Amino acid sequence: AAPAKPRISVIGTGYLGTTHAVCMAELGYDVIGLDVDAAKLDLLRAGTVPFFEPGLPELLTKVQGGGRLRFTDSYAEIAQFADVHFVCVGTPQRKGELAADLQYVEAAFSSLAPHLDRKVLVVGKSTVPAGTAVRMEQLLASQAPCKDVELAWNPEFLREGFAVQDTLHPDRLVLGVRTEWAEQQLRAVFAPMIESGTPVVLTDFATAELVKVAANSFLATKISFINAMAEVCEATGADVTKLAEAIGHDARIGRRFLNAGLGFGGGCLPKDIRAFIARAQELGVDQAVSFLHQVDAINLRRRARVVDLGQELLDGSWTDRRVAVLGAAFKPDSDDIRDSPALDVAAAIGRRGANVLVYDPQALDNARQLYPDLQYAASAEDAVRDADLVMLLTEWREFRDMSPERIGTLVRRRNIVDGRNVLDPAQWRAAGWVYRALGRQ
Ligand code: UGA
Repeated sequence: AAPAKPRISVIGTGYLGTTHAVCMAELGYDVIGLDVDAAKLDLLRAGTVPFFEPGLPELLTKVQGGGRLRFTDSYAEIAQFADVHFVCVGTPQRKGELAADLQYVEAAFSSLAPHLDRKVLVVGKSTVPAGTAVRMEQLLASQAPCKDVELAWNPEFLREGFAVQDTLHPDRLVLGVRTEWAEQQLRAVFAPMIESGTPVVLTDFATAELVKVAANSFLATKISFINAMAEVCEATGADVTKLAEAIGHDARIGRRFLNAGLGFGGGCLPKDIRAFIARAQELGVDQAVSFLHQVDAINLRRRARVVDLGQELLDGSWTDRRVAVLGAAFKPDSDDIRDSPALDVAAAIGRRGANVLVYDPQALDNARQLYPDLQYAASAEDAVRDADLVMLLTEWREFRDMSPERIGTLVRRRNIVDGRNVLDPAQWRAAGWVYRALGRQ
């Protein structure tokens, strides 16, 4: 039977792991988070979340105060302590390839396994190519001293910016298990969610792994679909925001994730569709997902289109023009700049000779590290001062709420590209702006 209150370890304290560890502690479990990065551990021990995520710092402080969460770099310690180990390390895109880099997953399993001398459950949460779980199961079988250690796969669907809410109140729980014992352990851990009605989908390992990449592929496809329609709208004079509203009223289609604009970025959608393409090739089913090449290509074309729009507003030349880029994070309410469309565009126009000033409410420190050659402003007003062109590339609330009159007094020329279709064109044009957007006039 499952222990009434299993003790939990969480391996990897990135977005997923930190959120998972804090939320498990919030549910009342005793939790240890493990990372190999000493600097990250120091921050977490001091009660600081190393990234921006609304609500998470408060919850970290609360559960640390209650003594339910601590941090370590010792695999021996977590093996001693926990009944259930969650593996939450990253699977980034491999440099110069489509495939995911599994070195952190492999390192986590092979560091943990030699310490497992009693029957425990190891749960993979990282997003991995189908077939990884079986390999990790074999690794546990060959390297753990206890031969009864079991594996489960439990993909995570949290969104950055809503990580706490998504973890505590998920749409569904996907439990990829081999045995009833493993199922019982997971049902015990997730009892608070299951009791409040969260649907549970029981699967084998391969399905659990695939659910995650299928879900992200679908979301990416939905975004690229509407962005493809935006291209057609531009050629016909139609308005993609109205089109999305109209087709979105059909419940079978749904309005969510039909926001046309600069397209998707981040640490998940782009690398997950690429890793899926790579894995499908290995499996000999590349035709089945060849549409994902198009999804990726449509998405990247939007970045080029935004650059073209800006260039039109600047009468064909970027050279020595002052351009304000509003937004650096890949989406609002995040400081994550992995594969950020906004920074990709900022760098592209910088290379064309523009004098670019980037502002973002949360992501500037991260942006500076990855793009040290760009210039950064301390506020939106500083960024737009004397600008020949304003480009809104990440739809933070403060940019959506900007007053065209007020901003108009600061710029040199009233040119704006709304890369996320979040401003009211009529209002900006009435204030004397030349307004351009993707997929609408
Ligand atoms: C995504 C998924 O939504 C989560 O369910 C999943 O758990 C996560 O990846 C993951 O694999 O870990 P996230 O990367 O946090 O979450 O961000 P999203 O909210 O999905 O946005 C992704 C990108 O799509 C952003 O750049 C956003 O600006 C863009 N987007 C989103 C659009 O361009 N249009 C839309 O209509 C929606």
